[in-house]
Amino acid sequence: MTPDPVSAMRHRKRRHIDVCLTEAVDYQTVTTGFERYRLPYNALTQTNLDSVDLGTQFFGSRLRAPVLIGAMTGGAELSGIINRNLAAAAQHLGIGMMLGSQRVMIDDAAAATSFDVRDVAPDVLLIGNIGLAQLDAELVPGLAAALNKVGADGLAVHTNPLQEAMQHHGDTDFSGSMERLRDVAGALEYPVMLKEVGHGIGRAAVEELADCPLAAVDVAGAGGTSWARIEQYVRYGEVRYPALAEWGIPTAQALTEVRQALPGMPLVASGGIRTGMDAAKALAMGAEVVAVARPLLAPAIESVDAVVDWLQHFIDELLVCLHGSGAADLPALRRRGVTPVC
Ligand SMILES: Cc1cc2nc3c(=O)[nH]c(=O)nc-3n(C[C@H](O)[C@H](O)[C@H](O)COP(=O)(O)O)c2cc1C
Repeated sequence: MTPDPVSAMRHRKRRHIDVCLTEAVDYQTVTTGFERYRLPYNALTQTNLDSVDLGTQFFGSRLRAPVLIGAMTGGAELSGIINRNLAAAAQHLGIGMMLGSQRVMIDDAAAATSFDVRDVAPDVLLIGNIGLAQLDAELVPGLAAALNKVGADGLAVHTNPLQEAMQHHGDTDFSGSMERLRDVAGALEYPVMLKEVGHGIGRAAVEELADCPLAAVDVAGAGGTSWARIEQYVRYGEVRYPALAEWGIPTAQALTEVRQALPGMPLVASGGIRTGMDAAKALAMGAEVVAVARPLLAPAIESVDAVVDWLQHFIDELLVCLHGSGAADLPALRRRGVTPVC
């Protein structure tokens, strides 16, 4: 018997989590490209490490550090625990959080509980999520209700043509999606961010974005988690198309391309951001904030403390990066910039 679409979606979400925890799902040959840049070190820094300020304003909220927990999950039973542990950690650290795709709660009201985090994260910048392939004007009322129900401050729309093409029964018709994004972003009373899922938004995509009413772009580049890899493990139990699993725009390149093409657009750097140094370079290259997804999955299954520990280590390294480069705050870091490795 074929399972109903909601059970199938829950099962797929659970398979994604399992594959992420058990298989090699990172890019194997492609890197983020941040290793090609150095953060300038300043032996005569005039900063006091204890007073370095990582505070920033993003998406209408004040963050204590320029970090978002990347969009991960919702729908599967384990997702509720994951989301609550992530959200409580975000509240503790004063950072933001993106939820996983809320499509499942539009189709099945019972799935909404796995996105319920406001009681443990009353002050967190919380960004809802939906896929561009499924987005159309008819979805707007259901989507607005889903955002309202979870207490979201905004929406991230993920565009993922490569992932969908690798997925069994994925949505492979992206024709007209740009126009639908423009309509929905204009109609929805929430700020909207466009993101990829780890294959990168670069120059070609950005050319389509000039007149789209977006509040931010998350470049979600290549070099970290490869969704074309994950979907092949889920579908075949192995990687049958290695070239596709390695395809994408490295995060540092995506960031540079989008920064040049849309100078005024607030940018999120994500995709393979693993250390405070990666974050420092991305911020110095013009990102407003960084986002980290898969490294937080296992800690989120464990406990709030495990997530806090991972992120505190990351933030501590970022603080030292600012101090050692002579930057007392994020605007100063941006003025420092990065130098290419020769
Ligand atoms: C288990 C898991 C589930 C994810 N689900 C979503 C999702 O529902 N929506 C979305 O926009 N991105 C989703 N992503 C993609 C991440 O937000 C991120 O763009 C990608 O994993 C690259 O970042 P990373 O290298 O830090 O993992 C998911 C990632 C993981 C690991």
